[in-house]
Amino acid sequence: MTVTSLPVSATKRSWKVLVTRQLPGNCLSDLDGLADLEVWKEDGPIPREMLLEMISDKDALICLVSDKVDREVILSAPRLKAIGNFGVGYDNIDLVTASERGIPVFNTPNVLTEATADLAFALILSAARRLGEAERFLRKGDPWTWSPNLFLGRDVWGASLGVVGAGKIGRAILMRGKGFGMRLFYTDTTRRDDLEDGTGAKFVTLDELLSISDIVSLNVPLSVSTRHLIGERELSLMKEGSILVNTSRGPVLDEAALERALRGGRPAAAGLDVYENEPIVLPGLLKLDNVVLLPHIGSATLSARRAMGRLAAGAIAAFIRGERPMNTVNPNVLGPDKEVGLS
Ligand code: DGY
Repeated sequence: MTVTSLPVSATKRSWKVLVTRQLPGNCLSDLDGLADLEVWKEDGPIPREMLLEMISDKDALICLVSDKVDREVILSAPRLKAIGNFGVGYDNIDLVTASERGIPVFNTPNVLTEATADLAFALILSAARRLGEAERFLRKGDPWTWSPNLFLGRDVWGASLGVVGAGKIGRAILMRGKGFGMRLFYTDTTRRDDLEDGTGAKFVTLDELLSISDIVSLNVPLSVSTRHLIGERELSLMKEGSILVNTSRGPVLDEAALERALRGGRPAAAGLDVYENEPIVLPGLLKLDNVVLLPHIGSATLSARRAMGRLAAGAIAAFIRGERPMNTVNPNVLGPDKEVGLS
């Protein structure tokens, strides 16, 4: 396929780029001299009507995983030629419409892998050792003394860890599990020899994984086939005393089913960083002590977020210069190598 609107040389005119939020650090500098940036300065998403208005004269968009870039948004931007998503998951973007319009979508893989794996492990430890509950207890200010039965939790060291989705983040979680002397399992659509060699993890089916793992970590991208991948039936397969952690996307997990399962004590605890109707958290979950709830901060370290910004802006800058950014999620719109370049 030929690119319908090849980038125009920056020497001819600079691109108008909408950035939907202020990003940490000076991570947009690659666009200096190539683009005029309009950055939304409020601490919250651009209201829908305003977004439709603001994008209408833009050549490119840098958006967040929390921005819904659907067909209406894309079609209201007749000049739009590129989208850079500040995140590795891009389920917030209507890729079909973007591709139909010949618009490449760039994401930010690799740079947030370790930060997100750290956070997944923090959730594992918090849920297993009841850190949220214990901290809330202490802050209440009630008198307490050391007690043999105070906040008894579960062992992480030596437990079995099952990772659902063996991409880069899943692998990084398995590596951490190795350091904790855990028995490692994974499931995915295909077996991954490289991952097995690197981590010693054993490939099993999803049902097997759920029934043998003390700790289950969800690390699949959101797609039609992963929506509600874990529902009532799957939760019922989990071991007694087990823990479920989700740092991928909320809709991968049926949140209402999880609430019921947690009330029933299986899984025994959970840790969530993402939600089915983000930013809304199911009210019932907020009342439960056996779930640790975080506000989607998986990649929230300064260095990861800076690197994500640089990658998103760098891809737009490269595209303006007529190059082929590596991190294009729909590379078919760029056509064969020879067709890309400044005209
Ligand atoms: C991503 O990159 O997909 C993350 O969810 C953002 O932190």
